[in-house]
Amino acid sequence: MLDLLLRSANLPDGRGPIDIAVKDGRIVKISSGIKADANIVIDSTDRLVAPPFVDPHFHMDATLSIGQPRLNESGTLLEGIALWGELKPLLTSEAVMDRALRYCDLAVTQGLLSIRSHVDVSTTPMVCVEALLEVKKRVSSYIDLQLVAFPQDGLYRAAGAEKNLIRALDMGVDVVGGIPHFERTMEDGARSVKRLCQIAADRDLPVDLHCDESDDPMSRHIETLAAETTRLGLGGRVVASHATAMHSYDNYYATKLTPLIAESGMHVVPNPLINITLQGRSDTYPRRRGLSRIPELLAVGVNVAFGQDCTMDPWYSLGSADMLEVAHMGIHAVPMTSRAAMAWAFDSVTLGGAAAMGLPDPTLREGGPASMVVLQARDRIEAIRLRATRLAVIREGRVLSQAPPRRAVLSLKGRPSTLDPADYAPPIERSSQPNQERT
Ligand code: FE2
Repeated sequence: MLDLLLRSANLPDGRGPIDIAVKDGRIVKISSGIKADANIVIDSTDRLVAPPFVDPHFHMDATLSIGQPRLNESGTLLEGIALWGELKPLLTSEAVMDRALRYCDLAVTQGLLSIRSHVDVSTTPMVCVEALLEVKKRVSSYIDLQLVAFPQDGLYRAAGAEKNLIRALDMGVDVVGGIPHFERTMEDGARSVKRLCQIAADRDLPVDLHCDESDDPMSRHIETLAAETTRLGLGGRVVASHATAMHSYDNYYATKLTPLIAESGMHVVPNPLINITLQGRSDTYPRRRGLSRIPELLAVGVNVAFGQDCTMDPWYSLGSADMLEVAHMGIHAVPMTSRAAMAWAFDSVTLGGAAAMGLPDPTLREGGPASMVVLQARDRIEAIRLRATRLAVIREGRVLSQAPPRRAVLSLKGRPSTLDPADYAPPIERSSQPNQERT
């Protein structure tokens, strides 16, 4: 007797309809027409079944704090920073935990089961670190939560920041963070990158820096980060987050830079929702977009994974823990609307995010963990187009969340009586070959 059987699913690689059999938290068989009984059977006809979503860049200590102590009326980065500064002295461990746990509930309903969150280490006492370490423990059976020690006000710009960062790592925070473009000088920024990479190398930890989240074409700390990653052999353990200044680099410099990033083996995590709103704010017209050079990075073999960054916090009033919304914005903002590129965008918020977080490859396969999401869409592109309803969210064979299909009831003479959003799409393309064409 199986624990769970998903009937007639479509897989992200185009296979389907196919059955997925689950026993003791693992996928035991993926095959057509499996003949076995199961405690739970989910009819997945015309549904995409994919690995759970991954958000490799988030700020859980600030999430859902919108309106505290006041709203960001201008929607700008500067007012957001000022607001967070006003909120920090008012934070309590209980309030941070409550918001974070509520966010994790929301994340589960969205099939988002792996999150890397930066945590501000500059509060005294370390309210956010204590709260999120406790949250990490509490959600560990259903969410992989990694924490990044983030010196929000700069490693050298803020007094005592390195001491706080080290303390947070001693307390159990998983990843070394930083913000070189926020240091007082370019030299201090480069020095902070070198120091942070050395701390990570000494402790055998990953690195994830807010790197060049700026419109300044001279903000080139990603170059130092790539060089230090190569020098110290940190390879796949390093992430450059945001990296928005790449849009402002001149083309010649960019063609020098991207192979160095590829050579280092580091990952790049752009955050299209927030950065399309925050960057280019001092421009008149034309206005720059706030993203890295994603097609160019992909072309030289860099793993690029979209992150969400913010949901209803001092910097961003919107967001809903929906990584399909993130992929949707990324596709538009880059732009990258070839069929292959849109399919890649789906993989970016599942497989790409997992690689950036250093997690095992979550591709659904026999013998692998039975962690997956059943989506009200037939393929990856349709899932992004519809920001598809998460019909079932499954972690190691356990159904964590279920939602009814989105279906409208129509009262129009001579027209269908109900409407599934997928009804209006042309037939699924089963021949799509992922990752061959990028843009
Ligand atoms: Fe961020």
